Amino acid sequence: MGGISRRHFLNGTLVAIGAAGLRHPLWALAKTNLAGVAPEQLLLGVDYYPDQTPETLWEEDARMMADFGITNVRIAEFAWGLMEPSEAKFDFGWLRRSVDILHKHNIGVILGTPSAAPPPWLTAKYPDVVEVNAQGEPLHPGGRRFTCPTNKTYRRLSNAIATEMARTFADTPGIIGWQIDNELTLSPSPRCYCNFCRAGFQEWLRAKYGSLENLNQKWGTVFWSQTYTDFAQIPVPLPSGGDPNPGLALDYDRYQSFANVSFQNEQLDILRKTCPRHFVTTNNVGLVDYIDMHDLYEKLDFVSFDNYPGFFEMLLHEQAKGGGPISWDYITSTIAMGHDLGRSLQRKPFMIMEEQSGKAGQRTFSPQPEKGQLRLWTYQAVAHGAMGLNYFRWDTATFGAEQYWHGLLNHDRSKSPGFEEIRQALKELKALGPEVLRSQYASEAAVVYDYDCGWAAQIQPAHPSLNYMAQVTSWYTALSAGHTGIDVIVPGADLAPYKIVVAPLPYVLSEAQAERIRNFVRNGGTFVGGFRLGAKNEFSQIVRTPLPGPIRDVMGVTVEDYVPIYSGKPGVKFSAALAGPDGECGIWADILQTSGAEVLATYTSGGHAGKPAVTRNSFGKGKAIYIGPDLDGASLARVLRNLATSAGVQAPVELPSGIEVTVRQAGGKRWVFVLNHKPETQTIPLPHPGTDLLTGQSRSGSLELRGYGVQVLQIG
Ligand code: GAL
Repeated sequence: MGGISRRHFLNGTLVAIGAAGLRHPLWALAKTNLAGVAPEQLLLGVDYYPDQTPETLWEEDARMMADFGITNVRIAEFAWGLMEPSEAKFDFGWLRRSVDILHKHNIGVILGTPSAAPPPWLTAKYPDVVEVNAQGEPLHPGGRRFTCPTNKTYRRLSNAIATEMARTFADTPGIIGWQIDNELTLSPSPRCYCNFCRAGFQEWLRAKYGSLENLNQKWGTVFWSQTYTDFAQIPVPLPSGGDPNPGLALDYDRYQSFANVSFQNEQLDILRKTCPRHFVTTNNVGLVDYIDMHDLYEKLDFVSFDNYPGFFEMLLHEQAKGGGPISWDYITSTIAMGHDLGRSLQRKPFMIMEEQSGKAGQRTFSPQPEKGQLRLWTYQAVAHGAMGLNYFRWDTATFGAEQYWHGLLNHDRSKSPGFEEIRQALKELKALGPEVLRSQYASEAAVVYDYDCGWAAQIQPAHPSLNYMAQVTSWYTALSAGHTGIDVIVPGADLAPYKIVVAPLPYVLSEAQAERIRNFVRNGGTFVGGFRLGAKNEFSQIVRTPLPGPIRDVMGVTVEDYVPIYSGKPGVKFSAALAGPDGECGIWADILQTSGAEVLATYTSGGHAGKPAVTRNSFGKGKAIYIGPDLDGASLARVLRNLATSAGVQAPVELPSGIEVTVRQAGGKRWVFVLNHKPETQTIPLPHPGTDLLTGQSRSGSLELRGYGVQVLQIG
């Protein structure tokens, strides 16, 4: 939030809009009539590539875009070669002409810095800027995102083009903000293992540990004779005839995240200094787990990210090698979780920098979204806290690796099948207005998403099928089945706003986080921890105390044994407090022994039959629940919903599958978003009468939603 307090966002952007001289009626409205409404909430645009479009079409494009109803575009994020055709020879003439045309049509411009795709002259002259993959092989120029985040030459050159762009466009009418780079780390080879990274890692370790003695002790390097006597001896985790030291491997993941964030922040400093009136953000994909998103967005003005539900479906299909139907419930829930993470990082509305607008893919591509789905996905984002969206992309490239990533215009520039639907969605979003788009998402529950746990579980999953992301997704899905508003928070986030905080697979637990949980429960909160709670400390050492390590007193239990399960699934029987059919334990069971906690479920089969599986402890004014088994989805949903209700979270609503409900609120008003993710019409009961914001009609009793339909109801 440092960036925000330094340049108060609202004032900053209002000034920016003024300086940009934009005449767009919406911005004019925001600026003059709606005091306190940030204009960035009316960012409804497309991603546009004038660099890939004949100049003779720019005017027509801008006219069509204005007619289509957009307020802004994002451009130039891959156009390094055109902006700097040879080292230190800059040519922004074409970009300025494009910006001028867009501005003439009242379209604001977000400029992208181009460091995700260096031109051939650069890699020819500085071949060592390329990334080295996890096998120790250098990547090759020819694609994108193949450079090292530590490399000083690459940073210098990236900063140079960012500096020139910033200087050139700081006062250009029409420019409203910046996107730094593009999807940092998002590539088949997300981490770099080159010699520059190795040196950077050693430097980072020196700062972190102070002395080799401390480092050796924290990592336990006496194991396999790895005691380091010079920082220069410390390797990066490349193939080495045996698994790396877990402490080293976890620190390396942290270092790679740090390297990418600091790469970004060098550009951020330049943009802040030269363009103080513009907003600055970056785009990423909500659930990409190679970079700590909290750190990435910490100094940026707001969070923005990219959202492609149909492409996700295609990826899942590819992973399943064509076998079995892909569950849209899973896709819907994963997308919702990504949105919730994006919003929770700064606890305020976010932007979708790229939203699917048609068939999506590169070598292979997804189907055209069904009629209504594009509008539905737009609303899903807004329902979870989006203040604006850019659709990817305006036209469809006829050349290059993304020829099959379909935009709003087809290859022949005719309108795509989704064109009118998106036009309609844009019209509706404008009609909803800034009050709704800037409102807060209502959430009383939080799911902890901890990069350390994810990375540590990738390094040593303990069970071959144990996957952190899968665990978090299934806990999120289970909790959200009751239509409870959920924030997805990182460790260190303030827990006080929540009634219940759940932490799936909380494998790594620092003393500081344990203390936060202790205070949260002591003050009346409900904490639910999953199996492996506190098994490792932040240096990836197994703790020497009985588990759950530093919060055994809070949980009121001791883990008697932990059991990976390969065959047979132990049953789980619930006590009256969690009444319901017996459950099944999947791939993991923590066997509990109570020391004060009440038993809410026991194992019914296997060697641990009769032992406690789920427990609840009273600690201070709150409750601490331990879920020992990897519970099946239905049981987990019932248990979490029950616990949420006991914690005082608004009673869960029983709704047909495929229906999603969220609430946004501001100034005593509440807007309920009801989304039907199924192709068929569904009818749901309406607990409160409301006004349909899109038609102005009153609704009470029940609500009928057509397939992929959406309703926004104002309640009260
Ligand atoms: C995004 C990326 C864009 C474009 C798009 C379609 O992930 O940011 O640059 O590549 O996917 O592939």
